[in-house]
Amino acid sequence: MSTESQSGPRVYLETYGCQMNIADSQTVNAVLRRAGYSSAERPEDADVILLNTCAIREHAEERVLGRLSDLARLKSRRPELKLGLLGCMAQHNRATLVEKASYLDLVAGPDSYRRLPEMLRNASFDPAVDVRLDRGETYADITPDHDGSIRAYVTAMRGCDKFCTFCVVPYVRGRERSIAPDDLLREIRELAARGVKEIVLLGQTVNAYRHGASDFGALLRMVARVDGVERIRFTSPHPSDINDSLIDAMTTEPKVQPYLHLPVQSGSDRILAAMDRGYTVAEYCSLVERLRRAIPALALSTDIIVGFHGEDDSDFRATLSLVAEIGYDSAFTFKYSVRENTRAHKLGDSVSDEEKGRRLSELIALQEKISLDRNLTNIGQLFKVLVEGPARRGNAMLAGKTPQFKTAVFPAVEGIRVGATIAVRVESATAHSLICSLVA
Ligand code: SAH
Ligand code: SF4
Ligand code: F3S
Repeated sequence: MSTESQSGPRVYLETYGCQMNIADSQTVNAVLRRAGYSSAERPEDADVILLNTCAIREHAEERVLGRLSDLARLKSRRPELKLGLLGCMAQHNRATLVEKASYLDLVAGPDSYRRLPEMLRNASFDPAVDVRLDRGETYADITPDHDGSIRAYVTAMRGCDKFCTFCVVPYVRGRERSIAPDDLLREIRELAARGVKEIVLLGQTVNAYRHGASDFGALLRMVARVDGVERIRFTSPHPSDINDSLIDAMTTEPKVQPYLHLPVQSGSDRILAAMDRGYTVAEYCSLVERLRRAIPALALSTDIIVGFHGEDDSDFRATLSLVAEIGYDSAFTFKYSVRENTRAHKLGDSVSDEEKGRRLSELIALQEKISLDRNLTNIGQLFKVLVEGPARRGNAMLAGKTPQFKTAVFPAVEGIRVGATIAVRVESATAHSLICSLVA
């Protein structure tokens, strides 16, 4: 939130979960700022504390409940402090939350943020709860508060209609809806005018985007026309919604970067069918082949769940083989977590937590090796890197991303500005970053 207006009540907002939640928090900040609120840097300084939460796995919810009970201590010392839960977990646990956390003043789902000021005004009675899902809500007229970095996340579509059997997202985020290209382009032009160089279009199945005659490929081509935007990325595309229009935009628009996060979830057809993912292993592999033929520089990452109901050792081995065969640049891996409301909930858990842990470790070890091997092949190659700021490892190094979304670190030489695109040569590599020298 902007710190310009320091007069109104102060809000401290903490965000959990995926990039869509980060983008939603920027919308929440914009809504509250318009209503006269200002921002607090620390919970101790706030009049209102809000947690924007994630429900994707049990662990995500446990973290939030732990944090809530910490914050409740603040509230017991300052009863006028308002404590609110936003986002996917608010939507998911609406029935039980109010009892579980009796100190909550406010519970608001992802489609209720427009009404937050009103809810906060009324929150002194009993918890103000608004978890109506609204298939018309896109927040298209609310320009999110951008954090000032060179990369901006722009929500292109909300919700999900896929209903994979393990996943809570369609229940907590509601039906798929796309934001009009004109509204998106207006926001993106404003961001570009403020120095944003890279736009990341967001949606749970972002390539299911459709508005009037525009599909996702058409949207990419429109965004590429915006002056000042240098790089375009998007996440997450669903394998079933990749079409020629999207591939064409990736091959013909130089601003669209050669990187795809293409969640596969499992390498076993039996498990993919039980998850209702809508593709087979062979279909996924031929899609990857088609993408790599069209976009030779393409980097790929994925999401994988181990220990889904019914996954036996041979299913898991099939996942390992697929991971080795595709050769992902990186992967996000998760132990299956049974979620209430989902279609797979009634099946329960058939794999013990220890066994899930064992499979997860084996998968991570394999992927680390593959990531390292792939990064080692980059040694000696040149890449264009968009400079983001100091490297995490510090010691006078800067960091930025290659077109393939790999982290490049390089010496912080006088004159290199954040937001500039520079050329680097890869000198050495780890599984997670490329260590580079500058190219004159
Ligand atoms: N929309 C994206 C995924 C969003 S959720 C897609 O369809 O690919 C991010 C990741 O969390 C998923 O890809 C999946 O790997 C993981 N995930 C979702 N539900 C889960 C569950 N119940 N248990 C474990 N991991 C889960
Ligand atoms: Fe969840 Fe499947 Fe939708 Fe992704 S596509 S958000 S995994 S239901
Ligand atoms: Fe979590 Fe909601 Fe994102 S459940 S992963 S914050 S859409």
